[in-house]
Amino acid sequence: MSEPVPRPGGVGRVHLRPTLLSDLDFVLTVESDPHNLPFITPWERTQHEGAVRFPDFRHFIVEAGAGYAASGFVILQGCRNPHRSVELKRLVLQHHGQGQGRACVRLLKRMAFRDLHAHRFWLDVKVLNQRALALYASEGFVEEGRLRESVRLSGSLADGYDSLVVMSLLDREYLARQALGLELA
Ligand SMILES: CC(C)(COP(=O)(O)OP(=O)(O)OC[C@H]1O[C@@H](n2cnc3c(N)ncnc32)[C@H](O)[C@@H]1OP(=O)(O)O)[C@@H](O)C(=O)NCCC(=O)NCCS
Repeated sequence: MSEPVPRPGGVGRVHLRPTLLSDLDFVLTVESDPHNLPFITPWERTQHEGAVRFPDFRHFIVEAGAGYAASGFVILQGCRNPHRSVELKRLVLQHHGQGQGRACVRLLKRMAFRDLHAHRFWLDVKVLNQRALALYASEGFVEEGRLRESVRLSGSLADGYDSLVVMSLLDREYLARQALGLELA
């Protein structure tokens, strides 16, 4: 599965391939990168192993650039959810601001609605994560509400809390965007 990075001078195409257990060193390295840590709650290796193995999850390596080197990872959860509510649990990239995030979100929306038959594709994102908020909003995700002060800040911002913004896209909203040519074919 691949999608052109939607930006001139970008890094070519983005691929998603299933994560192997042998990829988990890379996954843990990207997740613990100081540029990424403020925006996520890192997992133990065993949690990633579970997400690779359990059918309710999909765990992918993002590949991009010349030679399609590994450039990040993605986790979907709720893929067997009886309510057809699929969660974009995690999207973490090594290199930011090159259009890879938008390319991934477009691929993931298509996967959620076309392949997993989701009714609702949702996520939560920290208020401090303005980049991700802007990306999701511009890709059609609608704010549902905020979980106030629900995550502890870490590192240099310790001793405080941030709120989580819950956002979602419904299947009918996705189809409307598709009809307008805003989604992948
Ligand atoms: C969030 C993340 C996946 C986005 O991917 P990315 O490749 O960096 O983002 P893109 O280059 O595709 O940019 C997407 C949009 O983000 C917004 N954006 C980019 N940089 C921004 C910045 N510094 N401030 C605010 N918004 C910004 C813009 O709207 C941009 O689109 P545009 O340039 O076409 O207008 C990536 O930055 C990342 O891995 N961050 C750390 C982990 C994380 O936050 N994961 C998401 C948790 S919910």
